[in-house]
Amino acid sequence: MSTAAPQELVLTRPDDWHVHLRDEAALQSVVAHTAHQFARAIVMPNLRPPITTAAQAAAYRARILAALPEGSDFQPLMTLYLTDNTPVDEIKRAKDAGVVALKLYPAGATTNSDAGVTDIKKTYRTLEAMQREGLLLLVHGEVTDPAIDVFDREAVFVDQVMTPLRADMPELKVVFEHITTKEAAQYVAGADAYTAATLTPQHLLYNRNAIFTGGLRPHYYCLPVLKREEHRLALLQAATSGSNKFFLGTDSAPHASVMKENSVCGAGCFTALSALELYAEAFELAGALDKLEAFAAFNGPDFYGLPRNQGRVTLRRESWTLPDSVPFGEARLKPLRGGESIGWKFIP
Ligand code: DOR
Ligand code: ZN
Repeated sequence: MSTAAPQELVLTRPDDWHVHLRDEAALQSVVAHTAHQFARAIVMPNLRPPITTAAQAAAYRARILAALPEGSDFQPLMTLYLTDNTPVDEIKRAKDAGVVALKLYPAGATTNSDAGVTDIKKTYRTLEAMQREGLLLLVHGEVTDPAIDVFDREAVFVDQVMTPLRADMPELKVVFEHITTKEAAQYVAGADAYTAATLTPQHLLYNRNAIFTGGLRPHYYCLPVLKREEHRLALLQAATSGSNKFFLGTDSAPHASVMKENSVCGAGCFTALSALELYAEAFELAGALDKLEAFAAFNGPDFYGLPRNQGRVTLRRESWTLPDSVPFGEARLKPLRGGESIGWKFIP
């Protein structure tokens, strides 16, 4: 535990192990923000229609590269969207195309998840092929049964899906994405070396009161939804514990402000503008700034079996105000904490 309050932190260049970059004009608007802070990012495949084939992933990768600012060396790491029908053969093609993982969305769990998996058993032959080829499974860990309370869906998923899956597919590398509960944190901490988890800045900084402070605050609504304070504390403990099973994945998920500030608000917090700063704020609150570098730059590549980055970035203690909104194609996009101040400043 560090005691001094440093004015500057120099860290190995970090990666974002979970981001939504969208496509077309939206992609053009957001990709530079992620590329500014991160060397690499795991790009989620939940486009409409979803990225389900190696060929689609290669084409999407080319569109991302074309949308980058000149001179950027940002590397998108591509994923496929797992469906009930992902052919076993597609896994070899995906591997050859440089795809690193498949994403499991339980059907109906979140944004653009209608094509998701209805019963994980239907995907077992494909998961076996992934295990053989060394592709990872990235999991949105919520059950979708409408009878289960939305705040309980992750904990129920641990028992109903994650535990049997791990027993059936022990050498498949699994990332439990954007965990939000003490149950998931305990599960991952106690699992073997084939299981890890990503943590978002919003789940480390906020509990569910943030959604209801002085009125309904749509920009704090994401899925899995923010939980009680006891869960936030368990997540912060996991992130700052020094365990190499937990790493940075922002789940930055842009939705136009008009869609967020609407009678039906899409799920997603846009954090790409200030991602590392928000994590630094959370780690400092836990007195664990010394644990930030491994969380942001070592544990992810180590788990994926990829090299750590070479470069360095700086976080300076400096108060600045996040823009209230930024362009998003023809629309506007409001970052989490837009118009508010933040106490760290990222310097590439
Ligand atoms: O809040 C979320 N937004 N959670 C997800 O699982 C999907 C994401 C999105 O694509 O907007
Ligand atoms: Zn996501």
